Amino acid sequence: MHAAESGRSASDPVAVEVSHLGKSFGGRTAVHDVSFSVARGEVFGFLGPNGAGKTTTVRILGTLITPTSGSATVAGIPLTPENEVEIRRRISIMPEAPGLYRRLTVRENLEFFARLYGLSKRSARIEEALDAVNLGDRAEDPCGSLSKGLRQRVALGRALLNDPEVMFLDEPTSGLDPVAAHDVHGLIDSLRQRGVTVFLTTHRLNEAERLCDRIAIMNTGLQTIGRPDELRHTLFDRSLEITTSAPLPDADLVFTGLPAVEGWQHDTRVTDGTTGYVLAVSDPAQAAPQAVRALVAAGADVLSISEARHSLEDVYLELVEDQEGGSR
Ligand SMILES: Nc1ncnc2c1ncn2[C@@H]1O[C@H](COP(=O)(O)OP(=O)(O)O)[C@@H](O)[C@H]1O
Ligand SMILES: [Mg+2]
Repeated sequence: MHAAESGRSASDPVAVEVSHLGKSFGGRTAVHDVSFSVARGEVFGFLGPNGAGKTTTVRILGTLITPTSGSATVAGIPLTPENEVEIRRRISIMPEAPGLYRRLTVRENLEFFARLYGLSKRSARIEEALDAVNLGDRAEDPCGSLSKGLRQRVALGRALLNDPEVMFLDEPTSGLDPVAAHDVHGLIDSLRQRGVTVFLTTHRLNEAERLCDRIAIMNTGLQTIGRPDELRHTLFDRSLEITTSAPLPDADLVFTGLPAVEGWQHDTRVTDGTTGYVLAVSDPAQAAPQAVRALVAAGADVLSISEARHSLEDVYLELVEDQEGGSR
């Protein structure tokens, strides 16, 4: 890699680049041949079940452990032993366990870590961090007296102290109740507003779907990567669901031959006296009007027509449960 020149400017559109990264602990492979890149300003979801290698990847990219194979660029800087200090100045990691001193107040904790990081203008940085996580009014409370959700906010404030370009948030809502998790989601949105690149590991699908521009699904190896809507589409056949008031006399005649329709079958889930059909289609936007015209021409009463929506959960379960099939 071209260590001297390669992409140190903030205009570099790539925040994190990972190429064939691997990590084994003894004989056990935690991360296998993983490649992806994260754009600057992106909220990138790293989704996978327990033991998928998410934390291991974060620890590699955060310069805490060295990879067994492959290479990476973090905040535009090649990940090499001599660049570790510079990388650490530009990133921060919010680990799974917040690691705060419970007997120290919120402010004292931030002061401690600001000193540890050797930051200048410490009091201004601390005020900004408190402000960013809305903890100004709890600054003098001992961390031990705060709820888990508030402690997580302190941990996020701690991770903001060095004004990082790239933030790694390792399961930031793990163990939080829905209200506290929602609160953390709001803070992640505000990081996006500030232009911070966020690398978010999670095993919560709804979280990844709600917050992330793109999602990588991990299970030791990278299973797939894309925008949430792309993941649904690339993994599932697209289909239209149609109900009519009465069975068509000859459904084959109606549906076969429509350009965007690849096949059809009865929808046996429809049991309310109406008739359901499922059409396999190449392009729902093209197929839906065609199908409606053909149905009307055949004298059918169309009650409903809609594209079948698969949840990201379907995608996720398919990928993490079906390892053997895994060419994706
Ligand atoms: N320091 C370590 N020594 C040995 N095995 C480890 C170590 N860290 C992680 N592992 C193993 O690597 C795998 C991936 O772990 P991890 O990256 O923590 O997964 P995740 O964060 O996705 O739950 C697991 O099988 C775990 O037991
Ligand atoms: Mg983990």
